[in-house]
Amino acid sequence: MKLLVTGGAGYIGSVVAALLIEAGHEVVVLDDLSVGHADAVPQAARFVQGTLREKAADVLGEGGFDAVLHFAAKSQVGESVRLPALYWDRNLGESLALFEAMRGHGVRKIVFSSTAATYGEPEQVPIPEDAPTRPTSPYGQTKLAIDGVLTEFARLYGFGAVSLRYFNVAGAHGRFGERHDPETHLIPNVLRVPSGAVPHVSVFGDDYATPDGTCVRDYIHVVDLGDAHLLALGAAEPGTHRIYNLGSGSGYSVQEVIDVCREVTGHPIPAVVAPRRPGDPAVLVASSAKIQDELGWKPERDLRAMVRDAWEFAK
Ligand code: UFG
Repeated sequence: MKLLVTGGAGYIGSVVAALLIEAGHEVVVLDDLSVGHADAVPQAARFVQGTLREKAADVLGEGGFDAVLHFAAKSQVGESVRLPALYWDRNLGESLALFEAMRGHGVRKIVFSSTAATYGEPEQVPIPEDAPTRPTSPYGQTKLAIDGVLTEFARLYGFGAVSLRYFNVAGAHGRFGERHDPETHLIPNVLRVPSGAVPHVSVFGDDYATPDGTCVRDYIHVVDLGDAHLLALGAAEPGTHRIYNLGSGSGYSVQEVIDVCREVTGHPIPAVVAPRRPGDPAVLVASSAKIQDELGWKPERDLRAMVRDAWEFAK
C-alpha cells in the first residue's frame, strides 16, 4: 500500500513507519518537526516537512494513497493544561485539515492515534472501550473530539477509520526510539540515571491506593503497537469507525518498573520520593480483549523487553 504517515518523525510515528516499510509498504512521512527529529524518519520513506494545514492536501493530491496513519499531535498532558487553546488548534484543527484533504482526494482509510487519556479517572479496571469517556485534561479532550469527528466522517462520507487508544507505550525498535525534550515518561527518565544524565529518578507519590503505594500503568511495547497498526489497516472498512484499546492488560507499578530497570542495566538507580504529579490516576490498565477477539492481536513483548530495548536505544 502507499501510506501517508503524519508525525513520522516522532517516537511512535517513526517506529511504525519503519515497521510499515519492513512489511513492504511505500511510506510518505509528513511532519513539521516541531517535536520530532528529521533523522528519525526512516531512510526509505519520502519526507515532507510541514504542518497538515500547509501540506496534507498537496501530498495527498499526488494521488495513489491507500490510507493515512495519523500520529501528528501535541501529546503532553501537563502542557495541555497550561496551553489548552494550542492543543485544540494543533490537535483538532490540524486533524480537521487532514480529514478534509483526505475527503477532497478520495482517501478514506485512516488509523488514528487515540489515547487512554480519553477515559479519565476510571470507574472500572481493566478499562473496556465502552467505559465512560471523561477526560481530565485538554489533551484527552482533543483526542476524544477527533474520535468523534471520525465517527461522523465514517457515517457521512464513508471513511473507514480505526482509533487505537494507547496506554503506556515504551521500548524501541533498533535506532527508532523515544527522544522527547523535556522527557516526562517514566522508563526513559529512569534510564537517564544509568546513562549518567541525572543522579536519581523521582517517584511521583508513594501513597496511592495500590499494593506498593506507587501508580500502576499498563505498558505496551512500541513494536507490539506497530503490529496492531498493520492489523488495523486491514480492518478499516468503509462506513465504520472502530475503537480499540491497546495495552497489555497487566499493570506494573512505578516501583516495579524501576526494579526491572535496575535488573536490566545492573545499576542501583537511586529513587527519591517526590510529591504526586497533578492529574495522575492511581491505576490505568486496559482491557485489550476487543482487539484480541476481533483482529487477533496480542502483545508479545513484556516489560523486560521494553526496558531492554529502550536501554539499548538510550546507550
Ligand atoms: N513517573 C514518575 N517519575 C517520572 C516520570 C513518571 O514517578 O520521572 C510516574 C508518573 O507519575 C505515573 C507513571 O510514572 O504514575 C507513568 O507516567 P508517564 O508520564 O510515563 O505516563 P502517563 O501514564 O502519565 O501518560 C501516558 C501517556 C499519555 C497519556 C496517559 C494517559 O504518556 O500520553 O498515559 O493514558 F495521556
